Amino acid sequence: MTIRKIGPAGIPSLGLGTFRMNPGEARAMTLAALAEGYRHIDTAQAYENEAEVGEGLRASPVARSEVFVTTKILPKDFAASDFRKATEASLKALGTDYIDLLLLHWPSKEVPLAETLPVLDALIAEGKVRFGGVSNFTIPMLKVAEEILGAPLAANQVEMHPFIDQAKLRDFMAGAGLPLEAYAPLAQGKVMDEPVLAQIAEAHGTSAAAIAVAWLLHKPETVALPKTAKASRLSGNLAAAEIILSDEEVSRIDALARPDGRIVSPDGLAPGWD
Ligand SMILES: NC(=O)c1ccc[n+]([C@@H]2O[C@H](COP(=O)([O-])OP(=O)(O)OC[C@H]3O[C@@H](n4cnc5c(N)ncnc54)[C@H](OP(=O)(O)O)[C@@H]3O)[C@@H](O)[C@H]2O)c1
Repeated sequence: MTIRKIGPAGIPSLGLGTFRMNPGEARAMTLAALAEGYRHIDTAQAYENEAEVGEGLRASPVARSEVFVTTKILPKDFAASDFRKATEASLKALGTDYIDLLLLHWPSKEVPLAETLPVLDALIAEGKVRFGGVSNFTIPMLKVAEEILGAPLAANQVEMHPFIDQAKLRDFMAGAGLPLEAYAPLAQGKVMDEPVLAQIAEAHGTSAAAIAVAWLLHKPETVALPKTAKASRLSGNLAAAEIILSDEEVSRIDALARPDGRIVSPDGLAPGWD
C-alpha cells in the first residue's frame, strides 16, 4: 500500500477518523485499522474516545513509533496553563509519551494565539508533542499563527470533500507549503449518493467513498481522514491510495463543488469562513 508522507511532519496521507465512534468502536477500530495497514489515527478530546484509541494502540503489535497519532484541544482550554494541562490529559488518556500532531481544534474567539502557541512551542521543545497545527483556521488566522509559532505549522485540518469549494483556502495553503488535512472526506457519508462518483466508482470496481478519498489524495499536500466504524470498510477506504484517476475523472469530481456544500459549521465555534 502506497501511503505517502506529507509535509515536514511526514503525515501519512491517509488516516482513520474517529469522530462519533463510541469508546468500544474506537478501541476495536484502532486495533483493526492498524492490522489492515493504517498508520495514522485522528482523535480529539471532544470525541471522548482518546483512552480507547490508546488501548487500541497498545493492544496492537504495531510499534507506537510506526503510528502517527493526532489529537486536538478545544478553545475552552487555550489559556496558557489550561492548554498545557489539557495536553497532559491527552497524553495520559492516550497512554503515550508523545503526541505526533497536536491541533488547536477550532480558533478561539477569546484567547489570542499569542497566548496559546508559545505553550505549543514549549511542548514541542519538551518532546511531548512532535508537531503542532491548527484546525478550522481561515487564511487571516493562518497568517497570524505562522508568525507566532516557532516551528512551521504542520497542517490545517479543514472540511474538504467533493461538494465543498475550498479553492481559496487551498490556493493560500499550497502557496505557503502548508499541508491540508481533509476532514469529512466522505461528506459524512453523502458521497455514496452522488451519481458521478458512483459512475466513476463502477468504472474502477470500487466504492464512491474510495473515489472521494482517491480524489483528495490526488491533490498536492493533502491528507484524507475517512472515518468508518465498520471493520469491513477499512480495507476499501485504505485501498483508495492505489486508485489512479484520469484527468477527466478529476475534472468531473472538481465540478461537484457548490456554494452550499459545507456541512460542519457549529454555532459558537465556526469562524467567518474564507
Ligand atoms: N477538525 C474538525 O473539526 C473535524 C470535524 C469533523 C471530522 N473530523 C475528523 O475527520 C474524520 C472524518 O470525518 P467524519 O467522521 O465527520 O466523516 P466522513 O469520514 O466524511 O464520513 C463518515 C461516514 O461515512 C461512512 N462511511 C465510511 N466509509 C464508508 C464506505 N466505504 N461506504 C459507505 N459509507 C462509508 C461512515 O459510516 P460507518 O462508520 O458506518 O462506516 C460514516 O457515516 C473524523 O472522524 C474526525 O477524525 C475533524
